[in-house]
Amino acid sequence: MRIDIVSIFPEYFAPLEVSLLGKARRNGLLDVHLHDLREWAHDRHRTVDDTPYGGGPGMVMKPEPWGEALDTLAPAGGEVPRLVVPTPSGRPFTQALATRYAAEPRLLFACGRYEGIDSRVVEEARTRMPVDEVSLGDFVLAGGEVAVLVMVEAVGRLLPGVLGNADSVADDSFAPGAMESLLEGPVYTKPPVWRERPIPDILLSGHHGAIARWRRDEALRRTARNRPELLARLDPDALDAHDRKVLAEAGFPVRGEDMAH
Ligand code: ADE
Repeated sequence: MRIDIVSIFPEYFAPLEVSLLGKARRNGLLDVHLHDLREWAHDRHRTVDDTPYGGGPGMVMKPEPWGEALDTLAPAGGEVPRLVVPTPSGRPFTQALATRYAAEPRLLFACGRYEGIDSRVVEEARTRMPVDEVSLGDFVLAGGEVAVLVMVEAVGRLLPGVLGNADSVADDSFAPGAMESLLEGPVYTKPPVWRERPIPDILLSGHHGAIARWRRDEALRRTARNRPELLARLDPDALDAHDRKVLAEAGFPVRGEDMAH
């Protein structure tokens, strides 16, 4: 996959040289190109921002440098990238979106700063490429750079060959189809007792079925505790009697099946 990133702070992306993604880049699985927006600002000060029409605080990124950047990186006749613009006003970034992005041949990320990019840039880009405005969550960052780091990592680890163990992606919290949308439960490694805390006995039992059951119980309990709104999205038909018992004990009785028996 090819990824282009346009930012006034390309140095923000040094972490992409490290660890899993650094290795993926060196192995040719991920082709990341960083671009300084100021390359496309032609006045003496390489100005990329100006005051907002209609007044108000802060500055807005000028459309001209962005227009030229997109013309250069998504030229007519070339392979059209999907443009991804991080903004707190965007649609939520989810594991499902990361999975869809991982299937794209090209992504182009545009990092806004200040109060954002002149809205005509996205409007015009939509006439010639798919565009997503995407939010990481209900909080405000100082700019799109950290959001792009997050998205590139979430997408990059899904690319074939990037993770050592193919199974680790299927087991993720929020993985499409896997454990519905339950949070992953706790994990343990050696030593078996640490600071007088033993690991749960079941994990030493060798009973794979019982271990899977225990993991699901823990996932249900953790989801009830930390993300109760996710439980509402579970398909009641996909819950067995044991699931229902665990959820009821966690304070989330599920209606349905019990009545039928
Ligand atoms: N830029 C600033 N805040 C952001 C957020 N929450 N998500 C994505 N991009 C952002």
